[in-house]
Amino acid sequence: MKFFVDSADLDQIAMLNDVGLVDGVTTNPSIIAKSGRDFKTVIKDICKLVDGPVSAEVVSMKKDEMLNEARILRKIADNVCVKLPLTMDGLAACKVLSAEGTQTNVTLCFSANQALLAAKCGASFISPFIGRLDDISLDGLELIEDIRTIYDNYGYETEILAASIRSVGHIKDCALIGADVITSPPDVIRKLADHPLTDKGLAAFMADWEKTGQSI
Ligand code: E4P
Repeated sequence: MKFFVDSADLDQIAMLNDVGLVDGVTTNPSIIAKSGRDFKTVIKDICKLVDGPVSAEVVSMKKDEMLNEARILRKIADNVCVKLPLTMDGLAACKVLSAEGTQTNVTLCFSANQALLAAKCGASFISPFIGRLDDISLDGLELIEDIRTIYDNYGYETEILAASIRSVGHIKDCALIGADVITSPPDVIRKLADHPLTDKGLAAFMADWEKTGQSI
């Protein structure tokens, strides 16, 4: 399973990238606003750091304007992946961009039928938002399961990019279901390494090692 970092924080991305845990990055307008930086500059900086796809989202509502924005964004770097909303205009723009060989990520997906449309329009990635469904007492993971089944039924190559991840449990469940990619805040990825028995075992090993008086 690929790991994307859902952030524009260069230090956090670099830290995880150095460990070898970053296969790509996703951003959205809220993440860019939080960074306080110029959109195109921050995307350029992330693209220099990371080899994999870096999602940069269009902000127009109409197909032709989305296409204009997409053509500006994809010039920033070869690994820019244009992120488009799951609307009829977004899908139409996705179809054109995919045919031109531009990587696309269709975002704000909340139903299996929406994911089916994105696959038919040739999206490279579909982003179902797990956490936001859970927030309104629906089952985000069930959506990932349904999309997996539908894509496998028809052999669609669109990758399922599980988004709006809130917990390490979400990541485990996505891996069990067979999501192709998760995009997660950096702190949730870091927490994957944590276990109290690891900490306890390490403390005991270190205490015993001290007693030997040896060094390596
Ligand atoms: C994904 O591409 C989105 O940017 C992100 O996962 C949304 O997460 P949120 O629901 O926590 O804002």
